[in-house]
Amino acid sequence: MAGRMDGKVALVSGAARGQGRSHAVRLAREGADIIAVDICRKFEASPAPGATLEDLDETAGMVKDAGGRVVTAEVDVRDYDALRAAVDGAVEQLGRLDVVLANAGIGTMGAKLHNTGEALWQEMIDVNLSGVWKTVKAGVPHILAGGRGGSIVLTSSVAGAKAYSHMGHYVAAKHGVIGLMRTFAVELGQHLIRVNAVLPTHVNSPLLMNEATYRAFRPELENPGPDDLAPVCQSFHYLPIPWVTPEDISNAVLFLASDEARYITGVALPVDAGSCLK
Ligand SMILES: NC(=O)c1ccc[n+]([C@@H]2O[C@H](COP(=O)([O-])OP(=O)(O)OC[C@H]3O[C@@H](n4cnc5c(N)ncnc54)[C@H](O)[C@@H]3O)[C@@H](O)[C@H]2O)c1
Repeated sequence: MAGRMDGKVALVSGAARGQGRSHAVRLAREGADIIAVDICRKFEASPAPGATLEDLDETAGMVKDAGGRVVTAEVDVRDYDALRAAVDGAVEQLGRLDVVLANAGIGTMGAKLHNTGEALWQEMIDVNLSGVWKTVKAGVPHILAGGRGGSIVLTSSVAGAKAYSHMGHYVAAKHGVIGLMRTFAVELGQHLIRVNAVLPTHVNSPLLMNEATYRAFRPELENPGPDDLAPVCQSFHYLPIPWVTPEDISNAVLFLASDEARYITGVALPVDAGSCLK
């Protein structure tokens, strides 16, 4: 049976685990080859454990099991030269580039904006905003060179559409991603390159499901776990669920990446159980 991504090559940032891994595997199942990049290390200010090289290798194995070819690179999306070199090399091996999924991101614990330290602010903007710009910048020349058009999907967040207290650094970066998406869409449309964003609500990836986050959401409990986090997360939604899965986001990303969305560009698509309605 024909896949929805047959013959295409996709660059996925933050592919070692979570949503990035899920996107890579989902697109591979539909026939794509994958360039999987990740920093594979811990961020001090992040409550989540760091992704590892073993995680990235596991993603590569899953892509292969799904029938795709894969090239991996341990690279920081803040380092444009390294990213560009990795993407150039991988495209050389795989022959083309059609899709960029700029998904890599961090979720560091914040404070009210006027109390946020400069280092925390700068790291967030560097990774979650500038890193997205650099990822697209590294991929676009190859999509243009193919002359066949392409699709770019940026991972924003419901925090790219709404404000939340104590995470203004993240909110600002994710709103910025929407600005990047719209501008890239305006600039690249003439080349049949579509640019859209997904806005996930809580996703049950390591970024959310970790001890420090349980404690931050339920400070009154001595030993909170996922079951204690669930009602708080559910209160953000109209659909009666606490969080979505990486696969839920991958389904939206696959649609936007595929030819089924061939005339959709400049769209900020929430996958949010109704969170943006609140
Ligand atoms: N989990 C959620 O609740 C949620 C909600 C909305 C949006 N998001 C966004 O979704 C995206 C994916 O997050 P996730 O939920 O899969 O989290 P995750 O922590 O499981 O995965 C993120 C991946 O990105 C990688 N990464 C981080 N900084 C990087 C850098 N500088 N260079 C290269 N790789 C880097 C990490 O190593 C990790 O493998 C992020 O942009 C995040 O902000 C997450």
